[in-house]
Amino acid sequence: MSTPRKVVVIGAGPAGYVCAIRLAQLGQQVTVVEKEFLGGCCLNVGCIPSKAMIAAGSLLHRIGAASAMGITASDVKLDLAKLVEWKQSVVAKLTGGVGILLKSHKVEVVMGSASFVDKKTISVKQNDGATKTLTFDDAVIATGSTPIEIPGFKFDEDKVWSSTGALVPKRIPEHLVVIGGGYIGLELGMMYRRLGSKVTVLEATAGALPGQERDCVKIIERSMKKQGIELLTETFAQGFTHDKKKSTVKVKTKTGEKTIECDQILSTVGRRPYSAGLALEKVGLAVDAKGFLAVDKQMRTKVPNIYAAGDIAGQPMLAHKGSKEGLVAAAVIAGQKEEYDVRCVPAVIFTAPEMASVGLTEEQCKEQKLEIKIGSFPFAANGRALSLMESEGFIKIIADAKSDLVLGVHMVGPEVTELVAEAALAIEMGATSEDIARTIHAHPTLPEALMEAAESVHGMAVHIFQKK
Ligand code: NAI
Repeated sequence: MSTPRKVVVIGAGPAGYVCAIRLAQLGQQVTVVEKEFLGGCCLNVGCIPSKAMIAAGSLLHRIGAASAMGITASDVKLDLAKLVEWKQSVVAKLTGGVGILLKSHKVEVVMGSASFVDKKTISVKQNDGATKTLTFDDAVIATGSTPIEIPGFKFDEDKVWSSTGALVPKRIPEHLVVIGGGYIGLELGMMYRRLGSKVTVLEATAGALPGQERDCVKIIERSMKKQGIELLTETFAQGFTHDKKKSTVKVKTKTGEKTIECDQILSTVGRRPYSAGLALEKVGLAVDAKGFLAVDKQMRTKVPNIYAAGDIAGQPMLAHKGSKEGLVAAAVIAGQKEEYDVRCVPAVIFTAPEMASVGLTEEQCKEQKLEIKIGSFPFAANGRALSLMESEGFIKIIADAKSDLVLGVHMVGPEVTELVAEAALAIEMGATSEDIARTIHAHPTLPEALMEAAESVHGMAVHIFQKK
């Protein structure tokens, strides 16, 4: 075996810790520097705690909806302090697990803030006050991102929550105003609606979830209406005043200015890559106007022994994309040939109903002047969805008109955040829609809807009538 390389990974989020473990598996000598918490935003204040709270909101909703099945539960109560405590226990299990995994793989963990000294040295200001100098053959920057703050809405985690504050509530707001109708705004907005809040979402563009497949978004917008969530589009939050537990939010709309009264504001207008304190200039690196570090397909920055992975390395800012980039960087450092295909990064949104997609949208296919065929299948014609009482939504497959290769799959409906895995595999393996259609899918299951959507690309779905 060749001599192990000394690698420093900066950041222990889904990009950094995954990269560190893989480096150790590949025989390298690894140190991780983390300033706040193992597992990063994702495990501590993002994906995991939000999904735990969303699961609670969904359960509460299903208990209410179960009367249609003849089940009535009375005296259903929400103990918010207990919910937050339970959510924290889920987080603690996972972050504890990351610590144990790093230790078992003999990865050294240094808690503190790293900054470059030169292309072979990093200085760490440790959280215990000491300073440590680390030398390295290679470094991986995996410092993630932080929520964007807009003027007039400074996060105090009291009157104005960021997603972090929204995940440790002391009370359920009576009226929550959410600024930004993107991933986080809709996931948390819908969760609070289910936990009992009145919710108003302010979105700057013409619709929710900009950039996502519009057919799917229409279902989400319809569902928001049904749930009693008000979505105000082409609306900008300008500022707010606060008096006696009430906030008055000033907004600019197409038709002029107005005010909205609420008792809680949540601002979720995007995230910005985080590189503060790294002293990138010491190694001749600089971030672009949006704060990203440019990398090649091997995750190398323009300094050959310095890599970047995760949110800092570009869009989409998704945990699993970061983990994949961490794995790529680790393999390349260990001397392997490795890269990944951006077309195969799925996106999952835990709204109600859920939404998920992988590959190109119809709009992107048009922009690229690709000739396509489209098939779709509604969950209303899927036995399993009906028996789960969750038949809203559909699956849509976009295939190349000539080769039939699957170019994109978009879904909205029950458990689609799970179902998208099969679609990602299809694109990764270069499957055609016929391949999916020919694969026997167990009955009665939700993935049958994917099979039938694939059949429908060829006008052959059995459980819907398709005009020739
Ligand atoms: P986002 O980029 O998804 O959405 C921000 C929204 O705010 C956009 O729709 C934008 O038009 C709107 N906006 C911006 N400025 C505004 C203003 N002044 N007034 C009103 N609306 C305004 O960002 P979000 O929701 O904060 O999420 C951040 C990142 O976290 C995303 O990039 C996403 O990739 C990631 N994330 C992923 C999740 C998942 O995988 N399930 C869940 C949550 C977040």
